[in-house]
Amino acid sequence: MSGGYPSVVSARRYASGMSPAEDSGRAAVSMSAGLHLQECFFQCIFVGMADRVLITGGAGFIGSHTADLLAKKGYKVRILDDLKPPVHDRDWPDYVLNKGYELIKGDVSKKNTWLTALRGVDYVFGLAAHQDQLPNFSKFFEVNTLSNALLYEVIVAKKLPIKKIVFASSQFIYGDGVYICPHTKRRFYPDLRTLDQLKKQRWDILCPQKVSAQFVPFREDQQPNPTNSYGLSKVALENLALRLGKTYNIPTTILRYSIVQGPRQSPRNLYSGSLRIFVTQALEGEPITVYEDGQQKRDFVNIEDIARSNVLALENDKMNFQIFNAGGGKGYTVLQFAEMVKRLTKSTSKISLAGEFRQTDTRNAVSSVKKLQKFGWKPKFSPEKSIRDYVDWVKDIGVDRASVRSQRMRLRKLGVVEGG
Ligand SMILES: NC(=O)c1ccc[n+]([C@@H]2O[C@H](COP(=O)([O-])OP(=O)(O)OC[C@H]3O[C@@H](n4cnc5c(N)ncnc54)[C@H](O)[C@@H]3O)[C@@H](O)[C@H]2O)c1
Repeated sequence: MSGGYPSVVSARRYASGMSPAEDSGRAAVSMSAGLHLQECFFQCIFVGMADRVLITGGAGFIGSHTADLLAKKGYKVRILDDLKPPVHDRDWPDYVLNKGYELIKGDVSKKNTWLTALRGVDYVFGLAAHQDQLPNFSKFFEVNTLSNALLYEVIVAKKLPIKKIVFASSQFIYGDGVYICPHTKRRFYPDLRTLDQLKKQRWDILCPQKVSAQFVPFREDQQPNPTNSYGLSKVALENLALRLGKTYNIPTTILRYSIVQGPRQSPRNLYSGSLRIFVTQALEGEPITVYEDGQQKRDFVNIEDIARSNVLALENDKMNFQIFNAGGGKGYTVLQFAEMVKRLTKSTSKISLAGEFRQTDTRNAVSSVKKLQKFGWKPKFSPEKSIRDYVDWVKDIGVDRASVRSQRMRLRKLGVVEGG
């Protein structure tokens, strides 16, 4: 960056070797099988197919896959990313290069970045985020919340004709969510499990009668109850985005992703979850370390399904000013997931259930995706596919053994991981 302004390092539009018209034509075929080819060709050219989409955090995992799908459909893609460690090594990753994307290196928390990045833009995906396990609380709000307030500030001040903004939120905003007590049949929002409870390896959420309560899958209309700064910063983002969006008539949609899996998940980010850690351990023949008793449930969603949910949110006006879960639609225990990784990697690793835990982990996290399904979306791909695709990719780029081990040590040292 120079003078506080972000640098635009590439501005080629069509790297496929095809003319824009050819490219749009190809997009037309994949876009709407129901339309006559010629009809779609014109529709695609004249109704928005040359729209420019800005993706913040577009050099990351979800952003880059979303970019690829948008480009396939004929959109012009502009990526804004600060490329900072630990996710990146300050350079553009190969998978966004030579694709004709406009690449802007810049920080979303700086106003100047937005002034440059929003020029000529029709749509915005807000995917840039601070994701970490470290206790740097204010950073979450700076990157995940404040930066996006700046986005609206610039749009309103400059009267920019932005057609829609889609934000990435997270299943994390639900925290432990809602449970039902088996005796009283009453629903309740549990508090974070206490350190004392976890140290005694009493993993379940208990109702006031001290028996295990029953988890209810997350629904969009339930009260958010985040357990950490990341979740809190995303709730704040949701509130400000919907409020400012409605006030200034800037269509805005929020997607609350579950655990997204697939290739390009940064192998160096402390935050990226069980897939990266389990696969690395399995490929190395090291114990696959599962927290708690492994019976905690999660839902896993494939990156291709998430990219589709993003494009749907961009294109469907009926989704404006609403929040949607985007998840795998089915819960698995973490132990089941570890077994899946072991089987698919043909690993000799043992699965270790040493009773380690992280205090801000939720016991269960499974989202209902019924609301998004009403808009024609459903998760198509299994966690098995995500694991296979991820393993192929990791083998391609090389397993980062040292990093996984040192990150585990660091989390223990910081007291983020305890027990065992
Ligand atoms: N991956 C998941 O399972 C998951 C689940 C729920 C929500 N999300 C959300 O989805 C979005 C994308 O996540 P991801 O998994 O692709 O993560 P990622 O780390 O791969 O991508 C995030 C990108 O944002 C960029 N970034 C971070 N701070 C920035 C800043 N200040 N300025 C500009 N760029 C910055 C990073 O360099 C990175 O490329 C995030 O908002 C995240 O909170 C992800």
